[in-house]
Amino acid sequence: MKCRARAHANIALIKYWGKRDARLNLPAVGSISLTLSTLRSETEIVFSDEIEQDVLFLNGQKAKPKEVARVSSFLDLIRDRAKIKQKARINSFNNFPTAAGLASSASGFAALTLAATRALRLNLSARELSVLARRGSGSAARSIFGGFVEMHKGVSDDGSDAFAEQLFPPDYWDIRLLIGITSEQPKKVGSTDGMTLSKETSPYYRNWIETQEYDLQQMREAIKTKDFPKLGELSEHSCLKMHAVALSGNPGIIYWNAVTVEAMHAVRELRRTGVPAFFTIDAGPQIKVLCLPEDEQKTRDCLLSVPGIERVIVNRPGPDAQILEEDN
Ligand code: PMV
Repeated sequence: MKCRARAHANIALIKYWGKRDARLNLPAVGSISLTLSTLRSETEIVFSDEIEQDVLFLNGQKAKPKEVARVSSFLDLIRDRAKIKQKARINSFNNFPTAAGLASSASGFAALTLAATRALRLNLSARELSVLARRGSGSAARSIFGGFVEMHKGVSDDGSDAFAEQLFPPDYWDIRLLIGITSEQPKKVGSTDGMTLSKETSPYYRNWIETQEYDLQQMREAIKTKDFPKLGELSEHSCLKMHAVALSGNPGIIYWNAVTVEAMHAVRELRRTGVPAFFTIDAGPQIKVLCLPEDEQKTRDCLLSVPGIERVIVNRPGPDAQILEEDN
């Protein structure tokens, strides 16, 4: 019972921040994302009677007990469904820094969901995979799909309607998302803890929830009409609004470092010269910049001109999660 799968990371254009149910990992808001072509995770899983307890290797290194516990309880959901008890050995590789705000949990859990369910011969639809991946990490539900993706917050208590679906495939619209790496250190406050703190202490949390539907609707429209400035402005707005909520908790969370802030100004300066480039930032210090293919070079140069950014990773819209190998 073995399978290897690959899933690509995704970056939210309209952010998810906040949970309506922490146990089932149900989002308080919907979100819209772009799946990335370059950043991806490959995960191999083997279930066997010979394995005494779940073993997890991340990029060739034995994972920490906390990481193993998270993956183990996620696998329990799949084992229950398949009615088996066998433990597993998991080998997962990311081609980018783990846990630094680069959506490694999204691609990692999406790849694991696909590999584990296939290894156990559970033939799930893409929607069912997405519902399941959500239990590992909210954003993982979106990495099941390529291209432009929407995650629905759903209304049911059991979470069956909190799934992602593809709005448009990767070849629908050739845009770029450039990532400026400002630090390769793991982030200090994970997204789950950050969301809990925002919900419990930010005076702006309620407004964040109330204004999300409008942003989602505007973003659907921007993508449908291929209105790039609108897509970019909305992305920047949603990012700043999410960070305003995180910053206004108590204690406030500052996910940015000095280089992140310098880069935000540099992108706005680039925009003043007539290049439509827009930033977005997640629960970490990396800066992500949306631009059109013809502006890729200028945008890259702009990011590399910021002291502290040594590496820029260029992405196009990326593909669906896929099986790489399975035994018959
Ligand atoms: O999927 P999680 O629990 O890692 O949360 C993701 C949160 C953000 O990346 C900040 C926003 C998003 O929608 O991806």
